[in-house]
Amino acid sequence: MTATPSAHDGPVRDWLRAAARVAVLTGAGASAESGVPTFRDALTGLWARFRPEDLATEAAFRRDPARVWAWYAERREKLQDVQPNAGHFALAAFAQRHPGRLTLITQNVDGLHQRAGSEGVLCLHGDLFENRWLDLPRDCCRIDDACAGLPPYCDRCGNLVRPGVVWFGEPLPFAALDAAQRAARACEVMLVVGTSGQVQPAGGLATLARQAGARVVVVNPEPTDLDAVAHAILAGPSARLIPELLDF
Ligand code: OAD
Repeated sequence: MTATPSAHDGPVRDWLRAAARVAVLTGAGASAESGVPTFRDALTGLWARFRPEDLATEAAFRRDPARVWAWYAERREKLQDVQPNAGHFALAAFAQRHPGRLTLITQNVDGLHQRAGSEGVLCLHGDLFENRWLDLPRDCCRIDDACAGLPPYCDRCGNLVRPGVVWFGEPLPFAALDAAQRAARACEVMLVVGTSGQVQPAGGLATLARQAGARVVVVNPEPTDLDAVAHAILAGPSARLIPELLDF
């Protein structure tokens, strides 16, 4: 295993050039340089300031829907003011230059990969800007006609609208997870960018890729739970390193 702060030292760029299939798994750190807080940073991380069991579970929403809705509404609002960074743009541009070569898998719900131009992003944890019904929708539940409220609701049956993100204890969207697992098994190189690797099953994709024979490269300024799985660690920020890695 090699550890280096530069994309130009070591073999990673050669591995990428030789790879017909590259998978990229991103986490909150990929958006950090856009000004989006991560979850587990000791000072600024969302889970350092809030308890996930108060805000990111179905039980929390049922207990206090107004509070949970307001928290997600505030995150949506703050995201209006941020822009994708050079890492997001480099991933999108690489995919455009090399059709079919890159699969982008993200745990992020901020939409920044898509705003940078990435298509077909596999969103494992949903999308902060989508809404869905809390309970199984009945015929009367039409999301576009939901009554304004905190949260919006169906005026016929009272069903509540919730953010379209995956909460703790919930299954991941099957199609996205299935496609991500297939990409992990098929790739020759997996870049693991800006994730602590602490959340499953997303973190397990790196192990899956390694077991299937891929080179695994971690891009992260800090140590992560996935370092032991990596063939190489690029210990620096993704907005600098991803453009350097994918400049061909
Ligand atoms: P974490 O907050 O757990 O980890 C963020 C990672 O980004 C850390 O390892 C940081 O060192 C790294 N990082 C910070 N700045 C960076 C930079 N400029 N470039 C590269 N890396 C940087 O966030 P995730 O791993 O994404 O799930 O968290 C996974 C899931 O846990 C999230 O999707 C969310 C959360 O609970 C749900 O809400 C379901």
